[in-house]
Amino acid sequence: MLIRKETPDDIDRIGFVIEAAFKTARVSSGTEAQIVERLRAADALMLSLVAEQDGTIVGHLAVSATVIGDEENWALIGPVAVLPEVQLQGIGSALMNEALQQLRTAGMAGVALVGNPAYYGRFGFRAWPGLNFPGVPDEVVLALPFADSMPSGELSHHEAFGLDA
Ligand SMILES: CC(C)(COP(=O)(O)OP(=O)(O)OC[C@H]1O[C@@H](n2cnc3c(N)ncnc32)[C@H](O)[C@@H]1OP(=O)(O)O)[C@@H](O)C(=O)NCCC(=O)NCCS
Repeated sequence: MLIRKETPDDIDRIGFVIEAAFKTARVSSGTEAQIVERLRAADALMLSLVAEQDGTIVGHLAVSATVIGDEENWALIGPVAVLPEVQLQGIGSALMNEALQQLRTAGMAGVALVGNPAYYGRFGFRAWPGLNFPGVPDEVVLALPFADSMPSGELSHHEAFGLDA
């Protein structure tokens, strides 16, 4: 399996993978593929990684910029998608580990996401007192600081995420 950055040729396949993954997801707005398209169109995809198996894209991870409270330089991960037929094979973890390594190397303050702590806890993400995202329970608002900081305040998101509002 190869983890690499998206290229223009990948765009249609990425949309297909995201739609297929979220069709069977427990939590889905149904707009995840459009969110990625809108982030891309706004030049707001800080990082867009694909997982390729035998020359075919089977997974995708999107990263955009976020602000926590008044602390800038944070990255927001999501959506993350792996084709249902190849889930539970470590592809999601490989995408996440590569994203975290690249974002750490790029000097980001840390990474945040909205998701299940039972899954994302394994990468070091956790909820923090005072860290929140409007309309979402605090226990699924997670952050992983790369330095010695305490993420506190509201997590911002690009307007592309407002599709499901
Ligand atoms: C979440 C997702 C990206 C994980 O990808 P994956 O390649 O299946 O994950 P991995 O194989 O690396 O990890 C599998 C582990 O994660 C756990 N896991 C996967 N999805 C989970 C979820 N939503 N909640 C809790 N645990 C989850 C599995 O139980 C498994 O645990 P184990 O290692 O203890 O057996 C994939 O399941 C997916 O695309 N889901 C639909 C879309 C979605 O919900 N995306 C996340 C929100 S943005």
